[in-house]
Amino acid sequence: MRSIKMVDLQAQYARLSFDIDQAMKQVLLDGDFIQGAAVKQFEKALAEKYAVKHVISCANGTDALQLAFMSLGLPKGSEVITPAFSYAALAEVLHLLELKPVFVDVDPTTFLMDVGAVEALISENTWAIAPVHLYGQMVSMEPLMALAKKHKLFVVEDAAQAIGSQYCTPGEHGFAGTMGHIGTTSFFPSKNLGCYGDGGAIFTNDDDLAKRLRSMANHGQTVKYQHDLVGMNSRLDTLQAAILLVKFPYLLDFEQCRRAVAARYDSGLLDLSGLTVPSRTVDSSHVFHQYTIVLASQAMRDALKLYLFERGIPSMIYYPTPLHLQTAYRQVVNLPVSEDLCKRVLSLPICPELDVEQQEYIINNIQNFIQKSQ
Ligand SMILES: Cc1ncc(COP(=O)(O)O)c(C=O)c1O
Repeated sequence: MRSIKMVDLQAQYARLSFDIDQAMKQVLLDGDFIQGAAVKQFEKALAEKYAVKHVISCANGTDALQLAFMSLGLPKGSEVITPAFSYAALAEVLHLLELKPVFVDVDPTTFLMDVGAVEALISENTWAIAPVHLYGQMVSMEPLMALAKKHKLFVVEDAAQAIGSQYCTPGEHGFAGTMGHIGTTSFFPSKNLGCYGDGGAIFTNDDDLAKRLRSMANHGQTVKYQHDLVGMNSRLDTLQAAILLVKFPYLLDFEQCRRAVAARYDSGLLDLSGLTVPSRTVDSSHVFHQYTIVLASQAMRDALKLYLFERGIPSMIYYPTPLHLQTAYRQVVNLPVSEDLCKRVLSLPICPELDVEQQEYIINNIQNFIQKSQ
């Protein structure tokens, strides 16, 4: 059996290496490193696939969030409502821009922003809501957009973990990152669509925002050496765009493989006591960036993690500490679901290349652990 990884990037490269090598070589031959042809082609491919008017690529998913909030030009101290059970990028960016994250709790079964809890947090200083499409499925965008409209707020979607997820209620449809005023994503290597370094993109249907975003990602220039806005140097390398152009047509296939892995985990783990398999929201498809189980207690979670590690099976805790309890972003608020999940979640290996033998080994070991602990 091959050794098990959370995400097997080498196995994926082995499968696509011929085309990726060719694409990279072409960039080297063309010397087309910054804002080259592949960057434009990749932006166009994303815009067409996700039916969004503008795609602005940039250096990584965190910059994408920073650029999104820079482009909105919110007054200092503006409040932005965002989930506490999430990666730190959003909170970090808001702090850097002197905006204030107001943390909201998440739903205990989907782990997604509790949209029902948002309205009570809206104050006269609230300017935006920043949902995170965590683990591969989407926050309930329909009620969220209605709430944003009612209170005249911007919505910036963080779709770093959910590229390709499709919102599909009778009333609304759209891809992750394209339903709010601005959406962002990441092409970090382990993401569902990952490059071989850092990369990110911003989606918007708003022409004025798109203009500002494109300029801000390139030192605030519209014309070379004319700086009308304060910007950043945040561009997707042509080499990364060339790699992404090769991988993008495979994304649906990757997604299906991830769903098959998730279904096999479900059938092996569904009836185990003290373990809950991930539930699916009815609002969107699940692209299974993560397959995250919840154990009955922190002690059980930590013991299972160690048990798996000792048998060559990696697992990860996304995330061990909610954002309101992080030293850098500390706030005195009561967010019991986020705090509880941080103690009990465990993400298992999932990637298109995880084979049945590897997965049976993981499932058998989890079953053995549960039997022994009863
Ligand atoms: C939810 C979320 N937002 C933002 C980011 C930041 O993306 P990047 O690492 O490309 O800066 C990540 C990356 O892990 C993420 O998971």
